[in-house]
Amino acid sequence: MPNILIVYHSRSGNTEEMSKAVEEGVKSGGVKVVRKRVNRATLKDLLGADGIILGSPTYYGTMAAEMKAFLDRSVKIHGKLEGKVGATFSSGGGLGGGVETTALDMVKSLLIHGMIIQGDPWGSHYGSVSIGKPNAAAKKECRRLGEKVARLVKRLQSAS
Ligand SMILES: Cc1cc2nc3c(=O)[nH]c(=O)nc-3n(C[C@H](O)[C@H](O)[C@H](O)COP(=O)(O)O)c2cc1C
Repeated sequence: MPNILIVYHSRSGNTEEMSKAVEEGVKSGGVKVVRKRVNRATLKDLLGADGIILGSPTYYGTMAAEMKAFLDRSVKIHGKLEGKVGATFSSGGGLGGGVETTALDMVKSLLIHGMIIQGDPWGSHYGSVSIGKPNAAAKKECRRLGEKVARLVKRLQSAS
């Protein structure tokens, strides 16, 4: 069975709550899922996953230093994540505060790894976003993101 790894950072719980909704979505898509705080995630976790979903609060318009440090460490496995599916999500403090740029910054890192990114034509296009504590609509988007990534991972596996 394919598996998806969710890696997130969260100080006050908002991004963590989003990560749980993403996890629910992946499960409902029928794919195994492991959800880890970034300080517990390893490069081996990245190598073993068919899909990788990153979540970070928005700090000064981009991802938290903890997530950036993890991505910088991933240079050790550069080239080995090619073809895996990726997506991102972010929680920010206010509209216009940079949630989309944060989601995109993480997407850029996944693209540099050669990964295939799941976007969303209807909801948050670049990754799921929330302002503060995720409300019902934000959680719904997170679940949909998880489900979409699960579906794409399954489709790619059955095609190979
Ligand atoms: C160091 C720091 C920098 C922040 N910078 C921004 C920012 O640039 N834009 C924004 O919208 N919110 C910013 N925030 C607010 C957080 O993104 C927001 O509170 C978020 O929901 C926290 O997520 P968490 O509960 O998962 O830790 C910042 C918070 C901190 C602690």
